[in-house]
Amino acid sequence: MNDDTHVLDSPPSGAAPDWTIDQHWDRYTPEEHATWDTLFARQAKLLPGRASNAYLRGLDVLKLSKPGIPDFAELNDRLAGLTGWQVVAVPGLVPDDVFFDHMANRRFVAGNFIRRPDQLDYIQEPDVFHDVFGHVPMLADPVFADYLAAYGRGGRRALGLDALQYLGRLYWYTVEFGLIAEPEGLRIYGSGIVSSFAESQFALDDPSPNRIAFDLARVMRTEYRIDDFQQNYFVIPSFDELLRLTVETDFAPLYEELKALPGIAVATIEADDVVLTRGTQAYAAAKV
Ligand code: PHE
Ligand code: FE
Repeated sequence: MNDDTHVLDSPPSGAAPDWTIDQHWDRYTPEEHATWDTLFARQAKLLPGRASNAYLRGLDVLKLSKPGIPDFAELNDRLAGLTGWQVVAVPGLVPDDVFFDHMANRRFVAGNFIRRPDQLDYIQEPDVFHDVFGHVPMLADPVFADYLAAYGRGGRRALGLDALQYLGRLYWYTVEFGLIAEPEGLRIYGSGIVSSFAESQFALDDPSPNRIAFDLARVMRTEYRIDDFQQNYFVIPSFDELLRLTVETDFAPLYEELKALPGIAVATIEADDVVLTRGTQAYAAAKV
């Protein structure tokens, strides 16, 4: 996931000036590979009929079903020929400018560690399962690949315009927690959903969250929670449309408009929302 909190200000010792490190694939233990296999088997069974066609195609063409934690070098050979994206290992969260710079240059930064066996359902920091299983299949899709690179360029620009909050929400509600309307029905493509056993069911089946048609300014105003299931999901009509809309819109004047407006609280429905599912919010209510 992308969060603008980070621990370090300069690359830790052993990391390159661009913060990358070796994946050290040879250092994974049999137990760590087994954790990947357990997580993989569980999600691979759940996702057909739930994940977007683009995501499922990516899983297939990148041969992610091969047992064990993927070797980035092997993955990169396949990705290079498809969209030019590469996966690079970093030691945890990196500063925003570093994150955007890699992204604009089609390098996806990924953690190389894997969660412990007692953390199968939830982790605070993104590990190699979230980053690779969740994000990398979408990098094999040419349109999404272009979207994410454009996002990286937009990130560098947003830094200079003091607008990271707005652009970060766009990432959250598309790259991490996006839904797409496909001819067969609603499907998930957000990495935070596809990599979660519980949320890949909740996001589509539960009556609790709102499911609202994607609107750029609306999404950029919407707050989110990072520690539980989402209360809103935004639905794009297609990846082509998401790319067109974000690339053709100059965000600078939009940011200025948004700075004058209040944020929208997580579960609120706005008068001009196109609501696909009005959520009961029962899940969130049961928690307080
Ligand atoms: N069009 C955006 C801008 O003017 C850049 C961008 C493209 C951001 C695609 C996100 C996704 O800043
Ligand atoms: Fe993520």
